[in-house]
Amino acid sequence: MHSIPMASFKFLLLLLTLLTVQLSEATGRSLFSSNYDFPFFNGTQWAVLVAGSSGYFNYRHQADICHAYQILKRGGLKDENIIVFMYDDIVNNKMNPRPGVIINSPNGSDVYAGVPKDYTGEYVTAANFYAVLLGNASALTGGSGKVVASGPFDTVFVYYADHGGPGILGMPNMPYIYANDFIQVLKTKHAMATYSEMVIYVEACESGSIFEGLIPEDLNIYVTTASNANESSWGTYCPGMTPPPPQEYDTCLGDLYSVSWMEDSDVEDLKTETLEVQYLKVKLRTLNHNSTEGSHVMQYGTQRISNETVSVYQGSCPNSSLTVNPSQLFDSIGVVDQREADLYSMWHTYQKSTGEPQEKEELLKNIKEITAHRAHLDSSVIAINSQLLGDLQHGSVRGGGWALVDDWDCLKSMVRTFETHCGSLTQYGMKHTRTFANACNNGVSKEAMDEAAQAACSSYNMGHWDPAIVGYSA
Ligand SMILES: *[C@@H]1O[C@H](CO)[C@@H](O)[C@H](O)[C@H]1NC(C)=O
Ligand SMILES: *[C@@H]1O[C@H](CO)[C@@H](O)[C@H](O)[C@H]1NC(C)=O
Ligand SMILES: *[C@@H]1O[C@H](CO)[C@@H](O)[C@H](O)[C@H]1NC(C)=O
Ligand SMILES: *[C@@H]1O[C@H](CO)[C@@H](O)[C@H](O)[C@H]1NC(C)=O
Ligand SMILES: *[C@@H]1O[C@H](CO)[C@@H](O)[C@H](O)[C@H]1NC(C)=O
Ligand SMILES: *[C@@H]1O[C@H](CO)[C@@H](O)[C@H](O)[C@H]1NC(C)=O
Ligand SMILES: *[C@@H]1O[C@H](CO)[C@@H](O)[C@H](O)[C@H]1NC(C)=O
Repeated sequence: MHSIPMASFKFLLLLLTLLTVQLSEATGRSLFSSNYDFPFFNGTQWAVLVAGSSGYFNYRHQADICHAYQILKRGGLKDENIIVFMYDDIVNNKMNPRPGVIINSPNGSDVYAGVPKDYTGEYVTAANFYAVLLGNASALTGGSGKVVASGPFDTVFVYYADHGGPGILGMPNMPYIYANDFIQVLKTKHAMATYSEMVIYVEACESGSIFEGLIPEDLNIYVTTASNANESSWGTYCPGMTPPPPQEYDTCLGDLYSVSWMEDSDVEDLKTETLEVQYLKVKLRTLNHNSTEGSHVMQYGTQRISNETVSVYQGSCPNSSLTVNPSQLFDSIGVVDQREADLYSMWHTYQKSTGEPQEKEELLKNIKEITAHRAHLDSSVIAINSQLLGDLQHGSVRGGGWALVDDWDCLKSMVRTFETHCGSLTQYGMKHTRTFANACNNGVSKEAMDEAAQAACSSYNMGHWDPAIVGYSA
């Protein structure tokens, strides 16, 4: 338990309430309450939902995405305008205790029913994500062919949930999303004049680094991220925590920032709540009582958009039957670091398992291999870092609105060089991209990186983490 004085917590809640009232009064008088159908928003509402992971121990990301679909659908968005990326290996997974069903909270009902399977399995790729955003059907590989075929008066809502690292967001198929490519897609979309305004919500570790110092303020795009540029985001509703998932679940059901915005959207009147108010509530809940087990929700881009109502992007359902006790939302909640969530769940499964000894053995072997590869990644990155940059530079963070790196091609090349000698970074090792970025920022050459990586990793057997097998993350 993390203690903050109850009095100051109550004060925070009061402050929030006051802010809420002030903001809704302010917006109520302008565009949206009596005169909601302001002509600016006469367009179509589009949405792109992306779960960037696969595997049962990443259950929560696909559960988040399915839940978001239900909110948008209930809000009145049409299936033809909601484009979903998800690996789709959860619902029929042999470990799923409720076949055919996905839940996103302990008492939650099914969120899987009806979710469009636009891009699943091998088609959940960064390239398809970019093509969908740009409305470029001819650049697609596989999938339903649905793209954001939007016009100048349309709005677009993008929500992404997965692992990330400095400057990158995960995808279940390589390569990952690099911030510069994503921002370039947004700039191109803006230049094409095929939306009026866009809102992007991102859950991932270091998600602030995708936008910090990178997204211009004049693209008419408003962003919130689960964490700042240099901290983890958190999985929640995990076994053995408070509140726990139903007893038969061995995996986390959701992520803290994600369930914070969605459980808010589930119960609030989105025709009156503004994006700013949702941001403030989500920020407070995601701080998780200011403990170290929480993160700082951030805003980027075109700030003015935050005075619009949530309904402009998520739609609204006038007679939602869902209710929640608002104080519950701000109870301290059990969480696990995104990067530890899979091992945490695997251990839980292992300890609980009463199945075949062979299966237990297999799971333990798996856990040991993953742990060993992680230790190898950590130690080789530390060795490379100290050889190339010296201890002084270790972990140095560019702050104050600076982008992670100036030369993104350099960063990608450093990552590829590292993976060639040391094996795939994996969803865990994404946390090390800052070291490669620092190498670029300090003028380290590709040859020097090649030598250092070779020295650190020449005796390592990559096994199934060979990038020739799993692909390069850059
Ligand atoms: C919201 O932003 C627009 C554009 O800057 C502005 O015209 C409007 O007055 C703002 N509304 C509020 C309530 O701040
Ligand atoms: C939407 O509003 C714009 C700007 O007022 C207008 O030019 C356009 O014709 C409208 N579109 C529709 C479908 O009403
Ligand atoms: C789930 O429902 C039970 C029984 O109604 C209740 O005691 C519990 O607090 C609920 N859990 C959550 C996380 O809402
Ligand atoms: C769509 O993608 C194709 C293939 O990548 C590309 O050649 C074409 O220029 C793109 N079209 C537009 C309008 O961007
Ligand atoms: C992390 O980023 C935040 C803002 O993005 C900054 O205030 C903080 O000082 C940074 N932490 C470190 C260790 O640099
Ligand atoms: C949370 O932490 C910040 C920075 O350490 C501090 O200024 C603030 O008072 C804390 N809030 C609460 C409710 O403890
Ligand atoms: C809301 O309730 C009314 C009256 O009960 C009903 O006609 C309408 O279909 C409901 N709308 C939604 C979106 O459930």
